[in-house]
Amino acid sequence: MSELTGKTALVTGATSGIGRATAIALAARGASVVISGRNPERGAEVVEKIQADGGTARFVATDLADEDEVRRLAQEAGAVDVLVNSAGAGAFGPSASFTTEQFNTLFDTNVRAIFLLTAALAPKMAERGGGSVINISSGSAVLGDENNAIYVASKGAVNAITRAFAAEYGPSNVRVNAVSPGPIYTSVPAMWLDRYINLIPLRRVGQPEDVAEVIAFLASPGGSYINAAVIPVDGGLTAVEPPKPPVETTD
Ligand SMILES: NC(=O)c1ccc[n+]([C@@H]2O[C@H](COP(=O)([O-])OP(=O)(O)OC[C@H]3O[C@@H](n4cnc5c(N)ncnc54)[C@H](OP(=O)(O)O)[C@@H]3O)[C@@H](O)[C@H]2O)c1
Repeated sequence: MSELTGKTALVTGATSGIGRATAIALAARGASVVISGRNPERGAEVVEKIQADGGTARFVATDLADEDEVRRLAQEAGAVDVLVNSAGAGAFGPSASFTTEQFNTLFDTNVRAIFLLTAALAPKMAERGGGSVINISSGSAVLGDENNAIYVASKGAVNAITRAFAAEYGPSNVRVNAVSPGPIYTSVPAMWLDRYINLIPLRRVGQPEDVAEVIAFLASPGGSYINAAVIPVDGGLTAVEPPKPPVETTD
């Protein structure tokens, strides 16, 4: 018996990066995992990897920007004990270059989907005695970031909705937390991420597994008294001053 044996986990954005690593980590702890994403080939690859490792997984194709598809995912996922909202989209560029439609699509994907899935699934978790919801935020939620206003605003909303849902569902033993990754090697080009290395106290960019292990802990009995937390997984990036140039002294 592993710590998540008998539990079902739904992981959005599980076809790639942090979500993929999380699905694998939860399956390794015994959870049956529902893999969600848009890309069926990459979805099948994750399912096959989990099954080859002796775990249980199935894929449900979903575009989270589409409200009907989100509601269908909540139905098809069935009785979920652990919900990991990892799917996220970016919108990088001068703010004046974006249309309202692009703004709405980003918020629909990064925020509305979390709202709809949690509102649909958390009450059912409560009926079964409890559960765990883990949202993937970003260090960008607490740091201003040039040419990244829509994404930054969406991740600020993720932090806020995490605390609001924790207040709403905590009395029913449904814990709602977020992890806030720093730069992590995923589909983001390495040359963008490597620019941060000298700003990170650990002097390295993270791996998806660094984040997945924290998510798996939050989903497990060991995390049973953690609620409404936004946990940085960023090597210390958002907690410290950036390195400063040495002071020039004159004798
Ligand atoms: N990597 C970092 O440095 C970093 C740092 C801070 C926060 N984050 C956050 O971490 C989360 C995971 O990102 P990642 O780095 O692992 O990125 P990734 O490798 O690009 O994965 C993104 C995932 O989101 C899914 N997705 C995107 N738009 C979707 C939509 N409309 N409908 C359904 N699924 C959608 C993708 O699925 P398909 O491709 O199958 O559609 C994919 O599985 C995101 O919320 C991101 O904001 C990442």
